[in-house]
Amino acid sequence: MLVLGIESSCDETAAAVVRDGRELVSSVISSQVETHQRFGGVVPEIASREHLDRIVPVVKEALARAEVSAEAVDGIAVTIGPGLVGSLLVGASYAKAMAYALDKPLVGVNHIEGHIYSVVFDNPPVRYPALALIVSGGHTNLFLVPQPGQYKVVARTRDDAAGEAFDKVAKMLGLGYPGGPVIERLAREGDPRAVRFSVPRMGDGRPDFSFSGLKTAVSKYVREQGIKPVVTGAEPSQAVKDLAASFQDVVVRSLVGTMERQAVAHPPLTLIVAGGVACNGALRTAASDVADRLGVPLYFPSLHLSTDNAAMIAAAGTAKLQAGERAGLDLNVNATLRLQNYEVEDELLRQRKVHYKL
Ligand code: KG4
Ligand code: ZN
Repeated sequence: MLVLGIESSCDETAAAVVRDGRELVSSVISSQVETHQRFGGVVPEIASREHLDRIVPVVKEALARAEVSAEAVDGIAVTIGPGLVGSLLVGASYAKAMAYALDKPLVGVNHIEGHIYSVVFDNPPVRYPALALIVSGGHTNLFLVPQPGQYKVVARTRDDAAGEAFDKVAKMLGLGYPGGPVIERLAREGDPRAVRFSVPRMGDGRPDFSFSGLKTAVSKYVREQGIKPVVTGAEPSQAVKDLAASFQDVVVRSLVGTMERQAVAHPPLTLIVAGGVACNGALRTAASDVADRLGVPLYFPSLHLSTDNAAMIAAAGTAKLQAGERAGLDLNVNATLRLQNYEVEDELLRQRKVHYKL
């Protein structure tokens, strides 16, 4: 089964062709990073306009590189949320038009579910139950995946996403956007024990993450120590490198600490770490240590499939198409789409039980 995937939820316009849900035939990613860099973050209005300009050539290029015609694909999968509504609409409208014009099956895919599927290309098949940590600029969630397509959130961020924290701290230090790669680079030359930041714990005992207090702690430290933002082109000071290393260290400890505790509570057969922040080498090393301690295989996507791409959307879409799912032309986008159906089932079961007792 040959599936065309389309992704436009944030600032990457992407299209990919995937065979049988696991074989990457072509993947094209047109990043708007340079456009948004001067604003220090993604500007939604500009993002949707850029998607409009790029969607046609990007899809054409993905088909051309795959050496297939649009008529030859067996289905189309498109991201319908979560993300920026104007950006999502460009991909979804284009996919609907294509599906209608070519009379092809269409499915909508949750972007976060896409990130979970990003590991299928470069790893052995996932064994279930799996525990998946999805860490990106917009999301930080730990999912229990009892079976393909079933998701239960076991931990989520209460405020900022991990990638967002990297981006905000980088902005504070004058390091530009996106913040993750540059903080990782500076952290390699810094001392992670230089500044003692603590891992936040929730007052209600839930295993959730929180990164906004950490951002405030970094800002306070910058003020108290008189650390100046790095001037473009200048070599960052040792104080900035130490701060980058200490910040990265606490983010990584928070993420893998929760992953390990939850893996003990819900023993998985596969661990997954995906999303833009999964590019981070320190996170990869720390997560691998957890996996070794637990004796569970850990899968990462390859680096070019860790950040947003359409191959992961095509892979997730293939599973849906194979399960017989079809979207109509009334398919709509949802900027705040959630990925959780397992707990909903628990809730329904509970309601049914209550009903039964009555
Ligand atoms: O998955 P992604 O491309 O987009 C979203 O769905 O949000 O993730 C982008 C995020 C940005 O916040 C970026 O700073 C972060 O991933 N990121 C990193 C690294 N590379 C990208 N964070 C930490 N270390 C990295 N090496
Ligand atoms: Zn993403």
